[in-house]
Amino acid sequence: METRAHLISHLFGPEQEILTPTWRDTCRPIPEFDRLLKVSVLGPLDLILTKLGRGDEKDFEDIDYLICNVMEDPSPTYRRDAVSPVERFDDVETTISHLFRRPHPALGGRSYGEALYQALRAKGLLEAPEVHELGGGAGFVAAAMSSMATREGRPLRYTFLELSRTLLSAQRTQLPSATAIAAHAERLPLRNGVVRGLFLANEVIADLRVSPADAPESAELARRYGLSLDGARRLNTGAIRFVEELARVLARGASACLVEFGGDFEASPVALSGAFGRALHVEHSIHFGHLEAAAKALGFKTERVAMADLLQIDRSMRVTSYPDVVRLRNFAPSLPVLAHPMEEIARAHPFLLRVFQLEFPPIGSPRFPDPQATAGFCQLFHALMLRK
Ligand SMILES: C[S@@+](CC[C@H](N)C(=O)[O-])C[C@H]1O[C@@H](n2cnc3c(N)ncnc32)[C@H](O)[C@@H]1O
Repeated sequence: METRAHLISHLFGPEQEILTPTWRDTCRPIPEFDRLLKVSVLGPLDLILTKLGRGDEKDFEDIDYLICNVMEDPSPTYRRDAVSPVERFDDVETTISHLFRRPHPALGGRSYGEALYQALRAKGLLEAPEVHELGGGAGFVAAAMSSMATREGRPLRYTFLELSRTLLSAQRTQLPSATAIAAHAERLPLRNGVVRGLFLANEVIADLRVSPADAPESAELARRYGLSLDGARRLNTGAIRFVEELARVLARGASACLVEFGGDFEASPVALSGAFGRALHVEHSIHFGHLEAAAKALGFKTERVAMADLLQIDRSMRVTSYPDVVRLRNFAPSLPVLAHPMEEIARAHPFLLRVFQLEFPPIGSPRFPDPQATAGFCQLFHALMLRK
């Protein structure tokens, strides 16, 4: 549809605007005005921030609308590296592997990385002692998997593939023996059939592109892999392109494990940011049914398992929710961002426990890690395993 007119609905003074440091990159000029004055429209993330700063009822409606319709690729927020690894995983996007990065009683005294290593080994995905990890974040999973393999007397050859230079160097610090390669998930800088062991992507694919369901690329992928887009607004285009890349780089006998939140429903948006909107970006849940169908068509054998089952986590153990850890850190700043068992907090911080109404949801409840979400880790997180 062609634009016939523009309506200027608000005039914001500069004191009312809150913008990301890179707002100019996403600002779109409106050339129709050029003869009179220079007018541009802000990118959606800067509009969200500005509206958050004012926050009346209409602004919140607009924010909901903007989040649901942002189809921007979140990858550039990683490439720009505006926040440190600590701020990213403590404040902006706290992954499950980050909450369980230290040995935890709910995992039988193992860390997330150790539990994952043992689960993948039991599934036969680590027969060749070689791991390529995409988007390894701060590198805790890699360090844990690697040291467990070394303790077993079969050291892993580890390769990091990562978009963010800062995170790539954090990964190297955690595991100096690893090879580190700057990479984009949709264009892996690897030769055909070069991966002989395991390719791991833990909580990465929600960061990849989505496209409107009626975009030519979505229609083409839906046709190619027999995906139904009836009533859908968007497709996990980036995640499907990544699976195509896996089909290209994995040798026969190699495998992949993709861990993410989602289910058999269309990609749904989740906005994430740190304080004052830092590193604001929108991720999307994964339609695992679509991904599995594409993988099968590309020649993979697939297996989808709930992450809680794969890790054999104790669903009944009660731990701090993420928002409660953030609250507690205002008074106990040295408290690390972890899923703290209730008994541990009661022992270490009895005063805080009395003052705050802490919830301690069971790990298996929809309220862990975030009581405000409609579903939690055990309901939404899955591992999709692909074998070639
Ligand atoms: C949510 S973090 C997950 C980090 C870590 N795997 C964990 O479980 O904590 C997403 C990771 O994927 C990387 N990433 C995001 N988009 C990417 C892309 N298009 N290509 C490669 N890496 C990407 C980020 O830099 C980051 O390391």
